[in-house]
Amino acid sequence: MEMDQLVSLCKRRGFLFQSSEIYGGLNGFWDYGPLGVELKRNIKSAWWSDMVTAHDELTASDGAPSTHEMTGLDCTIIMHPQVWKCSGHFDLFSDMMVDCRVEGCKGRFRSDHLVSSQCPLKPSKAPGEHDKCDLTEPREFNLMFKTIVGAMGTEADTAFLRPETAQGIFVNFKNVVDSSRVRVPFGIAQIGKSFRNEITPRNFTFRSREFEQMEIEFFCHPDTSRKWYEYWRDRRMKWYTDLGLSSDRLILRDHDPDELSHYSTGTADIEYAFPFLAEGEYGELEGIAHRGDFDLRSHMEGKLNPNTCPLEVEKGADGKPKYRGSGKDLTYRDDLTGERYTPHVIEPSAGADRATLAFLCEAYTEDEQPNDKGKLQTRTVMKFHPRIAPIKAAVFPLVKKDGMPEVAQEIYRALKKRVTAFYDEKGAVGRRYRRQDEAGTPYCITVDGETLSDQTVTIRDRDSLEQNRVKVDDVVEEIERRVG
Ligand code: GAP
Repeated sequence: MEMDQLVSLCKRRGFLFQSSEIYGGLNGFWDYGPLGVELKRNIKSAWWSDMVTAHDELTASDGAPSTHEMTGLDCTIIMHPQVWKCSGHFDLFSDMMVDCRVEGCKGRFRSDHLVSSQCPLKPSKAPGEHDKCDLTEPREFNLMFKTIVGAMGTEADTAFLRPETAQGIFVNFKNVVDSSRVRVPFGIAQIGKSFRNEITPRNFTFRSREFEQMEIEFFCHPDTSRKWYEYWRDRRMKWYTDLGLSSDRLILRDHDPDELSHYSTGTADIEYAFPFLAEGEYGELEGIAHRGDFDLRSHMEGKLNPNTCPLEVEKGADGKPKYRGSGKDLTYRDDLTGERYTPHVIEPSAGADRATLAFLCEAYTEDEQPNDKGKLQTRTVMKFHPRIAPIKAAVFPLVKKDGMPEVAQEIYRALKKRVTAFYDEKGAVGRRYRRQDEAGTPYCITVDGETLSDQTVTIRDRDSLEQNRVKVDDVVEEIERRVG
């Protein structure tokens, strides 16, 4: 599949639109259309259900060192500015960028992406490769978006849009422990928007400036943290394959030591072979990081210096902490053993938009199928796993007469109380099937001549194209069973 084919289907069928398109768009910002919003919501709901609400805390999951609990949070996007000073984002969350001084180019590039970037000058080459390219020296560019809180608008009122949802979880650690009965080991999950002023947003939604994250901060005893790290790497990888990503296109890649984020003592990325990448290349879907006690200690004691081992609070010229912590006690006391310690954190951090893009890429399929007249035609079909498909079932009367629309509408009304459904009576039935194939609808229910005599309808399976007859009274249950 060429990326252009997917981008065009996404626009044509209402999965994704460029933000503010009628004004020429805004680079790095995307809107989800009617089908896209359902797809992304289903992915987020599957994640929340599988990780939080359906998690069985009474039984140790496969590969887990013990049982564990899971709970959730929904924190604000704008937080106290000190959060970002102590987390390290204020000082360290930057990319190196270079600008081109040449009139007619004036491009801006990430210096670590020069080889894979394109200079706007023709013929197409990487920045720096044209004779007239004139690039500046690399300089640091902080990725956090600034904003002003309150009416005064002074520098003291500067705040930031969060670049990750994780910090909201760390600063609420004590609130969650004190207000719920969770005991270590436990995880706190959050889904929400994050913002990064990416220097070169690109590859459709892959690198956006506004995106959604699905993050878990998993708190455990330092002695078991390595085992939990391994557990989460495997558990998260399986989540993607269970929902339909092919294991041939996924890899789990350990970070080299020089790639690790400032807080991490070990990170592995789950990466997917996105079609916009060269053969053999993979793009990050999710990072699973061993963050140690960096975050809780930084929010207690003041920003830690990531270059120290063991970690020490970074000092200013006056010998005091460069960025003061909250001073609140964020340690944990095990009431069974009496031991008090700062939990270590394993963080599976996924991007909802990257997951959505991967599921879109994986689903896009073309095959040859006969049309209404028996002639072979190319069919585009989005083979989403039924759990994440935007519409679970479409209902059609074969023709708009003989009482068929009435029966079909009744089925549709009953169905949409339970799953997302779509009713369509316009045009040839073959064309209606094709439209649902492009939307990725796994099942189409057709009311035909036989329905009126034996109260059965056909259910057509999107992938096998098999059609089974099912009693009208059993249709809703049957669709629910198949969707799972
Ligand atoms: N709290 C850790 C953290 O934020 P990250 O690797 O920077 O780690 C986690 O981000 C995930 O968020 C990535 O694996 C990716 O799926 C998603 N993500 C990060 N930057 C993104 C961007 N500019 N556009 C879309 N998704 C992004």
